[in-house]
Amino acid sequence: MRAAVVKAPGPAEVLEVAEVPDPSPAEGELLIDVEFAGVGFVDTLFRAGAFALPTPFVPGIEVTGRVREVGASVTGFAVGQPVGALLNDFGRGPRAGSYAEIAVAHASMAVPLPEGADLARVAGVLVNGVTAWMALHDLARLRVNDDVLVLGASGGLGGTVSRLAAVHPARRVIGVVGSEAKRTSAAEECTDVIVATDLVAAIDELTNGRGVDVVVDPVGGELRAQAYERLAAFGRFLVLGNASGQDPALSGDAAWHGTRQLLGLSLGAVAHLVPEQVHTVISAVVDLTHRGVLREPAPSVVSLDDVVEVHRALENRTAPPKTVLAIRS
Ligand SMILES: NC(=O)c1ccc[n+]([C@@H]2O[C@H](COP(=O)([O-])OP(=O)(O)OC[C@H]3O[C@@H](n4cnc5c(N)ncnc54)[C@H](OP(=O)(O)O)[C@@H]3O)[C@@H](O)[C@H]2O)c1
Repeated sequence: MRAAVVKAPGPAEVLEVAEVPDPSPAEGELLIDVEFAGVGFVDTLFRAGAFALPTPFVPGIEVTGRVREVGASVTGFAVGQPVGALLNDFGRGPRAGSYAEIAVAHASMAVPLPEGADLARVAGVLVNGVTAWMALHDLARLRVNDDVLVLGASGGLGGTVSRLAAVHPARRVIGVVGSEAKRTSAAEECTDVIVATDLVAAIDELTNGRGVDVVVDPVGGELRAQAYERLAAFGRFLVLGNASGQDPALSGDAAWHGTRQLLGLSLGAVAHLVPEQVHTVISAVVDLTHRGVLREPAPSVVSLDDVVEVHRALENRTAPPKTVLAIRS
């Protein structure tokens, strides 16, 4: 099969589209003829070696396509059926592998898709939708009067978090973008969009100095430190990622004095521990997306052959909010 392969970690150029052996399914696994593979910032971290996978490996942790083969003891799937799957249940062992014509998924991380589902759109919402759902519902326990601040609102995870928070609904969804030029990249569902350099003053103004109830942070760095100080009493601060690569120290005493909760979630690290919960959330995210309740915009669709440019764009902050690779075009 054709796949984008990383033989040794490094810059975007190490991604090489090549012929590799077809995989076969172990017990409990599905083979998927891949139509679309979602691309996220985290894929660049695997490719660069910040998160280690044994080499050579095929990146990509979200996929849609059709069932090619059903492994032993798998029930509920038929060959040819459209499916979506997460490939980031890393606690079971090395996985990933969606940048390929054939992917292997554990059946507990796969859901059947309705006939007629938009496979590109679904491929682009799986990781971010499940992460956003677990973060907002299970960790932050979002309430209707909550004001939510979303860092990185122009990005993939930040965009989906903003849309899901608006559906819940939160009282305010305040999206933070890196520059004036990025304002239009924030989710339409944000009630307010602010530029990172104005973060402190803008939150004080929007909340009359009270602060926000929930911060969702996939960015880290200076924004993380500033947003932590703008959390209202009983506020919940969700660390979901670190696109900036900078992890500032956050004060425990500030959590104590301010009555704040600091929470983290890494879907790939815990999916195998709570497979039934993850499976239920994947189904819910697919259903909400398919019915248009979660109004995920169409992702940018590019060929597998363009994978190097996609990774470069993610790393230099010029990528569209979400990109998927069309594997068979
Ligand atoms: N917890 C989980 O399970 C989970 C799931 C999915 C993703 N993640 C993590 O979430 C983070 C974002 O992933 P993503 O796929 O949404 O990425 P993305 O689409 O590239 O979005 C990241 C956003 O962060 C903002 N940003 C601010 N400062 C940045 C900097 N110094 N470098 C790069 N971006 C910066 C960018 O917006 P501006 O340019 O407008 O500032 C960008 O839109 C990553 O760390 C990823 O690993 C975690």
